[in-house]
Amino acid sequence: MFSDLPTHAPDKILQLMQMFREDPRAEKIDLGVGVYKNAQGVTPIMRAVKTAEKQLWEAETSKSYVALAGAPEYNDAMISLVLGDAVARDQVASVATPGGTGAVRQAFELTKLVNPNATVWYSNPTWGNHVSILKYMGVSHQAYRYFDAASGTVDFDGMIADLNGAKPGDVVLLHGCCHNPTGANLTAEQWQVVVDTLLANGLLPMIDVAYQGFGDGLQEDAVGLRLVTSSVPETLIAASCSKNFGVYRERTGILMAFAQDKSMVSAAQANLAYLNRQNYSFPPDHGARLVSMILTNDALRADWQAELEEVRLGMLDLRKQLADELRRLTNSDRFDFIARHRGMFSMLGLSEAEITTLREQHGIYAVSDSRINIAGLNTNTVPILAKAVAEVVSV
Ligand code: LMR
Repeated sequence: MFSDLPTHAPDKILQLMQMFREDPRAEKIDLGVGVYKNAQGVTPIMRAVKTAEKQLWEAETSKSYVALAGAPEYNDAMISLVLGDAVARDQVASVATPGGTGAVRQAFELTKLVNPNATVWYSNPTWGNHVSILKYMGVSHQAYRYFDAASGTVDFDGMIADLNGAKPGDVVLLHGCCHNPTGANLTAEQWQVVVDTLLANGLLPMIDVAYQGFGDGLQEDAVGLRLVTSSVPETLIAASCSKNFGVYRERTGILMAFAQDKSMVSAAQANLAYLNRQNYSFPPDHGARLVSMILTNDALRADWQAELEEVRLGMLDLRKQLADELRRLTNSDRFDFIARHRGMFSMLGLSEAEITTLREQHGIYAVSDSRINIAGLNTNTVPILAKAVAEVVSV
């Protein structure tokens, strides 16, 4: 029977992780998977997370189930972190999920229940797993233009023209901030035009926010998604705590469903809980509990925010160093966009062959679409990367 199982194209990011692990070269550099690393190349447990974990170990008396939709204090704290006071709490249904990916998956499950004929529009490019999940679920999907590789900026006219071709009831997948993989983001004015486009065409926004606090700041990174949510009748938001709390392996995420019409919220809530039950029953609690402890305790929250800010500023610094070094070495402004981008990623605009050369000849691992993880760099590796890139593009 198992001989009938299909084969699957490997996930490019996970494949790269494996290749990196197997590379014996000591000087290899991993700019593949989106995991933060400090100057020592370590993905640390954040201070507040460690403290909360100690407190939890002392205080927790049971590992019994919590609730199908997740612990209410976690959902409340996350809704407030992501949405601020943009909308009223009783307009939001929510379920805790296994990581941001779990939330994305549940969002597609919900839209499938709502409208099986809807097409999900995603940015070209987007996180590869978005498209992979849509394909796996048999959900109709179509790309909208997003990135102008020549300038390293958002092809906003192309994006809006494509979204104007969507049919009422279609879903528009947007990145809340720190676009993955490009690092090119919408301005506040552009978010407003997106809102107008959603409203004019009767489209449902689904916002994936996996890097809040990694771009311009915790509040700043939520401006666009808050504008959308407070402006359109209904919105889905999939949020991840993997990166901004550094709890990757704890699988901590949440799916929120906002409805202007409060009578729709209980229907959304019941369906979200139902979907949790069908897919994995109770969501994981450990990471969610740490997050809610941090967000509801002044001292822990202040410490977490301070550390997150250090991470954000460190990435901005690395962006500037890399752009400066590439400007110097290539004697051109070709890579200046790196300093203007925000978040964990930028796409260098190198060909697949050039990315292969980086890997094979320089031990530098980047995704084949030329996405690099800025947070995988440090002050020692920036000049090494810049030199290798300058060399590769000069051939
Ligand atoms: C990434 O884009 O590298 C991260 O979101 C990790 C993953 O699971 O792909």
